[in-house]
Formats: sequence, structure tokens, C-alpha cells
Amino acid sequence: MKNITIIGTGYVGLVTGAGMSEFGNNVICADIDKNKIDKLNSGEIPIYEPGLDEIIKRNHDDNRLLFSSNVQDAILQSEVVVIAVGTPQGVSGMADISFVNSVAETISNNLNSYKVVCTKSTVPIGTGKEITSLIRNKINDNNLFDYVSNPEFLREGSAVKDFLWPDRVIIGTDSQKAYKIMCDIYRPLYINKNPINHTSIETAEMIKYASNSFLALKISYINEIANLCEVLGADVHDVAKAMGQDGRISDKFLHPGPGYGGSCFPKDLEALLFISKNNNLYMETVNATITANKNQKERMVQKLLHLFGGSINNRKVAVLGLAFKANTDDIRESSAIDMIRGILDHGGIVSAYDPVANNAMSTIYKDIEYYNSLYDAVKGAEGVVIMTEWNEFRSLDLHKIKSMMSGNIILDTRNIIDMEELSSFGFSYDNIGRIKK
Ligand code: UGA
Repeated sequence: MKNITIIGTGYVGLVTGAGMSEFGNNVICADIDKNKIDKLNSGEIPIYEPGLDEIIKRNHDDNRLLFSSNVQDAILQSEVVVIAVGTPQGVSGMADISFVNSVAETISNNLNSYKVVCTKSTVPIGTGKEITSLIRNKINDNNLFDYVSNPEFLREGSAVKDFLWPDRVIIGTDSQKAYKIMCDIYRPLYINKNPINHTSIETAEMIKYASNSFLALKISYINEIANLCEVLGADVHDVAKAMGQDGRISDKFLHPGPGYGGSCFPKDLEALLFISKNNNLYMETVNATITANKNQKERMVQKLLHLFGGSINNRKVAVLGLAFKANTDDIRESSAIDMIRGILDHGGIVSAYDPVANNAMSTIYKDIEYYNSLYDAVKGAEGVVIMTEWNEFRSLDLHKIKSMMSGNIILDTRNIIDMEELSSFGFSYDNIGRIKK
């Protein structure tokens, strides 16, 4: 059991803090945003993440998880300091690590005893070395800290589960002492199996980018296969299923859709491409993944136009699902943004519905109509586009929808609606890479 401070109470920091306290450690989640800390102390959770409120409450009530806006004091009390601040995309494509650097500086000013400085945020390969020399240059005693790269592999929507039952934990460090301390934090994980990999710092940083890029590549790959299936009369679900049965490929992340979004894949691929360019080893596969994803988002708009016979001018389209995937209110890089832009650019009228992301989307599109129920959104619409695979869209009452719409068009970009039913209700529909029924 360790005393840990997590700096940054965003998505990664909160889940990490809650998860580490659930493992039995004493954790302080610290943030300079006092307002946020006050809210957390009064039980308000700033993000929507299944199961997070429950473990925060339990560990907070047991005093294993505290929230503080006094970052320096929190550092002084801890043996392990975890950097979990944001690394937004910079102008060049490279991740902007100025927040990380400023936290490293704060840590260097508060090294009252030996500490493990650990980075959870996704940072460009080489950042660990930079942080190490930044702190070394500030202090006289090299034995006062060790550096660890401990990248996160949390999916929004299942982050708590991913933290508590991870496929693997990466501990990148040159120090045996720091490695042992980190293993102690994750001790409950290796009672039954040991998912811990000890690597160098650069290797740990690379594992994160390589994993995300590969998953994005898989998605872009199956999307392009789906597009080809459409032209050649093959069915992408059967193709993906059979591909996935090959253990060398696996069936995960082979689901075709409207293009990947979120705060991670788009940003991390740009960063990896930039890093590769900088090292004169331009990664064609990463570049192609990015291009294929942009094309896929544009293709969704073209599909809709096609269903409408070429023009959606003055015609109303209900956009169902705004989040970049189900179980999150996050709309960053969501394909729904491109879809709405496409509809508006072609003169169409948008009525939008998402179970949790209406507010977020209204910061981008203020002037479209948002509804609190999907049936209200489809009322009077000539077409419906499903952009997010929310469960409530899987069981749409097609009879009811048809009777409320003024047209009969459905574009199912997540392949979640049964095609036979769509046909039997007389819809003119399209989806991604399926043989139409
Ligand atoms: C991703 C990774 O899955 C995490 O392991 C990683 O830690 C995280 O990024 C991060 O770097 O922090 P996340 O962005 O939350 O997690 O979302 P994913 O579940 O990976 O989905 C990303 C996008 O791909 C979504 O738009 C989703 O709809 C799309 N997707 C996913 C598909 O189109 N098809 C699939 O088969 C899977």
C-alpha cells in the first residue's frame, strides 16, 4: 500500500486515482482548479463514466481517496506522484506537453523525500528522458527520485473495468526500486495472474502509441474492406467474423462504422506520424489510417445524399447519437460532427438526439434543434441517421418511427438495425458493407 498523489483530475487522473485507491492505496487527487476539487469533495463527478461514482464514493468515505487543490502539499505527503494532466494536440501535430512540464517543475520544487515520478498521460516518445533531466537540473541529489512511464489503456465508457481488470500494465523504468514500488501499487492484480511488463521508459512510451495506432489501423482497414464489400456484393460482418476467428487477427476492433473518433486515436496518430517524420522514418501505415478515416467520415455524408437522391436542401434529417461512441458524453472528433456539418452545408435541417451528449454538441452547433427523446427528434424528419451505437437505438420501434417520420430514409452507420425489419417496414436504407436484404 502506497501514498500516492495524482496530479490532474481529468478523465485519466480521476479513474486512475479511484482505481489505485480501490486497490487499497492512499490517494490524493490534486488539481489547481479549486472549483473542480470543491465539486468532487461535495460528491459531484465531473465526467460520465459507468461505475466511477460508486468507487469514488466508497473510497472517499473510507478516507483512502482525497481531493485537494493544494498540489504542493499533496506532493510533499506522497511517495509516488502521478502526472495525469492533458496533452492536447499542438499546432504541428505533436502533442503539447507544456502542462506535463509545468507539473514536473512543481514536483522538482517539492522533493522533500524520495519519490517515484510517474507519467500516465500519453506523451511523445522521449518525454520521460526530458522530464528526468528537467528535474535533475533543478535538484542536487539524483537519488531523490526515479522516473516511471506507466501508460493508461482506458477506454471511455469502460475505463473503470479496464483499470481494475487490465489486459496488461506497463511499467517503464530504469530503476528496480521504482519498479518494486509500482508493483506494490498494482499488487491485487497479480494474485491470480501477472499482467505486469517491466520495460525501458522509451519502450513504455512507444507501447502506448503503437497500441492505439494499431487499433485505429484495424478500424480503418475494416472500414475500407466494408466499402469494397458494398461494391463487390460481399458482407463485411461475415468477413470480419471469419477474420476474427483467426487467432492471429482477433475479432476485436473489427467493427466497421462511420470512422473512429474520440480524444485519443486522432491525436495519437497525428503525434506518431509527426514523431516518425521527425526521425526520417515516415510511417505510411499511420498516414494511410488517418486518410482512410477522414474519407470514411466524408463517405457517410455522401451515403446520406445518395439516399436522398442527391439533394437534402431544406429537408429534415434526424441525427441519432452525437457521442463518438456509446456510453460516453464525449463528442471530441465524433463522426456526428462531420455528419451534421455535411447536412448543414448541403442546406439540410438537423434535429439531434443523444441520451447524454446533447449539451456537449450544442457548444459546437448552437442553432440546430436538440431533443430529449429520439422519437421527438424523428418527428417530421424525412431521414434518420444513426451515428452512435447506443443500446436504445438497437431496439428502435421501427413501426412507430415510420409513422412519425415524413419520409422513409434510414442510414445506419453502426450496422445495428436488422435489415429484414427495415425492408419489411418499407424503409429506404443503407449501412456499412452489408449485403442488403
Ligand atoms: C482508446 C483505446 O481503446 C484505449 O485503450 C486507450 O487507452 C485510449 O484510447 C486512450 O488513448 O486514452 P477510447 O478513445 O476511449 O479508447 O475509445 P475506443 O473504444 O478505442 O473507440 C475509439 C473509436 O473507434 C470510437 O469512435 C469507436 O466508435 C471506434 N471503433 C472502435 C470502431 O469504429 N470500430 C471498432 O471496432 C472499435
